[in-house]
Amino acid sequence: MIARTAPMGWNSWNTFGANISDALVREMADAMVEKGYRDAGYEYLVIDDCWSLRERGADGRLVPDPEKFPHGMKAVADYVHSKGLKFGMYSCAGVRTCAGYPASFDHEFVDAATFAEWGVDFLKYDFCNFPANGDCKMRYQTMSMALKATGREILFSACNWGQQEPWHWMRSIGAHMYRSTGDILDNFVSFTNIAKSQLPNFCDSGNYCFNDIDMLTVGMYGKGNVGIGKVCTDAEYRVQFTLWCMLSAPLMMGGDLRSMNDFCADLLRNPQLIAIDQDEEARPPYVVQLDGVTVTNPNPPEGEHPWSRQPETSLTLLKHLSDGEFILGYYNLSTQDSEIPCIFADCGLPYASGYGFAMTDVLTGEDIGVKRDFYNPVIPAHDCRLFRCRLVRC
Ligand code: GLA
Repeated sequence: MIARTAPMGWNSWNTFGANISDALVREMADAMVEKGYRDAGYEYLVIDDCWSLRERGADGRLVPDPEKFPHGMKAVADYVHSKGLKFGMYSCAGVRTCAGYPASFDHEFVDAATFAEWGVDFLKYDFCNFPANGDCKMRYQTMSMALKATGREILFSACNWGQQEPWHWMRSIGAHMYRSTGDILDNFVSFTNIAKSQLPNFCDSGNYCFNDIDMLTVGMYGKGNVGIGKVCTDAEYRVQFTLWCMLSAPLMMGGDLRSMNDFCADLLRNPQLIAIDQDEEARPPYVVQLDGVTVTNPNPPEGEHPWSRQPETSLTLLKHLSDGEFILGYYNLSTQDSEIPCIFADCGLPYASGYGFAMTDVLTGEDIGVKRDFYNPVIPAHDCRLFRCRLVRC
């Protein structure tokens, strides 16, 4: 059984794009082990697009680019396996991949067999260059069946960007995760919009088949293939990673693990946050409030009241954990420090219940005592706080 909890690993695309090679994979595998990512739970090392030659071989099979992968793919997989990791590769349901390499439309069974022979454990399956009259669901069904026919346990990571509402059918066709959005950029607006866009769909995400909101950009700081030159702050990366964890989304790292700074390495390996993502029941959070109440702005724009309501500036989420406790996540998506609200009645805990929350800050360990009725912490701009909450009589 695979993907009982959300898959975790590393994918080459966000930082390296087409610049992948045997040497890069080996160095990343080494880094995953030596820097403690494997022991933190990251299991899959996945190469994305641009690994093959531009045409299939005479036998109709995909051919690894001999300049990038001079020892072939089996050797790469063997190395990754020797490190106690699993190896993932990429193809596409269309006739060409997004970068124009041969893809698996009509070649599903031979390609799945090839991947299995190489020792592949994970297949990301993209959606570019798909025939206009093709049937999306049928082609994902076909690759899913082709993977099963290999007899090898291969995690099927469908990536059709939310086309035809995959949350309603990917689980039934055997996929273990499915991309629900367009591509992430290493930018606060991009990744918060991606997460917010899927809040209504996460009830269909859970054990064995997860809504995938794309690979993380934590640690890229504007560089690399999906870096757009804008440098995220550490707090913005905290928002990204904790949102993914609150959602129990797949955690596929996208930064360069060889040179990750201490802040980002600690964030990505944080055992408390990973435990939230990997909670065995994998329940999605519900939205306590999105832009729920007024925020006080001492310097309002001309003509606006200082108690102005700003569009989509604050988000509070509540997640049930399998041990009977809860995580309250407060997100300040605005550009100024603000009180982020949570009225506990919105969590099913009205004042008259006689219960409150004993709250501990997940990241600092700070015990902030028992709160009743409401708790509205001030959160810095583009930052967040997560609290572990235990029900207590009060
Ligand atoms: C699409 C996918 C990305 C990446 C690229 C590769 O855009 O959504 O995640 O795989 O293709 O070309």
